[in-house]
Amino acid sequence: MTPPRPADSSASDRSETDVSIDRVSVVGSARDEAGSHEQQGEPEGRSGRRNPPRSSRARRREEQAVPVSQPAESKWSISGALAALGRDMAVDLGTANTLVYIKGRGVVLDEPSVVALDQRTGAIVAVGTAAKQMLGRTPDGIVAIRPLKNGVVSDFETTERMLRYFIQKVHGRRTLAKPRLVICVPSGITAVEQRAVKDAGYAAGARRVFVIEEPMAAAIGAGLPVHDAEGSMVVDIGGGTTEVAVISLGGIVTSISARVGGDQLDDAIVHHVKKEYSLLLGERTAEDIKIRLGSAFPTRNEPQAQVRGRDLISGLPRTVVLTSEEIRRALHDPVTAIVDAVRTTLDRTPPELAGDVMDSGIALTGGGALLTGLDERLRHETGMPVQVAQDPAGCVALGTGRCVEDFEALKPVLLAESRY
Ligand SMILES: Nc1ncnc2c1ncn2[C@@H]1O[C@H](COP(=O)(O)OP(=O)(O)O)[C@@H](O)[C@H]1O
Ligand SMILES: [Mg+2]
Repeated sequence: MTPPRPADSSASDRSETDVSIDRVSVVGSARDEAGSHEQQGEPEGRSGRRNPPRSSRARRREEQAVPVSQPAESKWSISGALAALGRDMAVDLGTANTLVYIKGRGVVLDEPSVVALDQRTGAIVAVGTAAKQMLGRTPDGIVAIRPLKNGVVSDFETTERMLRYFIQKVHGRRTLAKPRLVICVPSGITAVEQRAVKDAGYAAGARRVFVIEEPMAAAIGAGLPVHDAEGSMVVDIGGGTTEVAVISLGGIVTSISARVGGDQLDDAIVHHVKKEYSLLLGERTAEDIKIRLGSAFPTRNEPQAQVRGRDLISGLPRTVVLTSEEIRRALHDPVTAIVDAVRTTLDRTPPELAGDVMDSGIALTGGGALLTGLDERLRHETGMPVQVAQDPAGCVALGTGRCVEDFEALKPVLLAESRY
């Protein structure tokens, strides 16, 4: 577990986050060595699928993106290249997924933040979707890594290479005019890491690089009135972090960045199955179980699923049947940590703004917002209205994208302006 980071100088209340980070890191200790053994098979039960898989969400986002996204093939056509010429871009550099938005076109890339490297030469073998498929399946000499896994830039060089790869994939090197770039980063990253991300943007060919904090981008993407003299609360649950913030008059008033997110939910499932069934699961199998069976509150539809893993004693593949109820119990600690982050933020919110949140409610964004019953659980625990944003996993990219569409109007919400 990475130790808590020092406070980001841009937000005076950020140091408060350490309290929650400490608490969350206890939860994170559920992680064990199973991840390195990886999966032996996919869960087989299909009856339990209640949330759409990411690919269909991405497809829906393309349909919804305003302006409409181009079909992927056109990216490489001459007209596609010309259309992208010098266009400003936005990047959601997430711990689990990276999304790229091009001005006037919408989200054009949505891939896992994973890089596969040849350990001997250091060469990149695959990036994004292809690299995620390799997680846990790599032969000797190749490693698939998630450089932002815990919400910090733990592996700067790989982060930079990944960012450059994605930007160049959509933009190409054929441009005459260099674009402006807005990058959204987890709000827990240090000033040094922020600098590093900006440098990666310049190295990838940007003319100017601006950084926006994740909760602000998420709130804009969820359509909250961030500029009004009214408190809006957003909870973004990503892969490695949960960002909770109250925003008013274009600024973050109170925020917490807790090191708990979808990854810790996956880890909790791996831990549970190992303890109860002496079975090792890979992290991708655990994620699949979370999506199919996981919940934060009892629901009417409580499916079961057959899951295959590797028996710890015999070393052979074995199948067990898991129920929604036991997975909900397994997820108890990290889900409670997410709820606590929301409650603590509400506790620290000035009364006038808390009153506004009571009226307007809490917006949930990030892929983790799709966990079944999380909205209901938060409603139950806080007494506030809670809404899952439309296309939660795309909110940050759409919010960052709003900044490149309407650059001057949204400039005040960006963290830094110049290169030097
Ligand atoms: N239907 C779902 N139910 C529960 N969790 C989900 C679902 N879909 C995606 N997730 C989780 O959301 C997380 C990724 O969310 P995302 O917002 O893309 O993260 P980040 O911004 O950190 O890259 C992953 O942990 C993934 O397992
Ligand atoms: Mg995110």
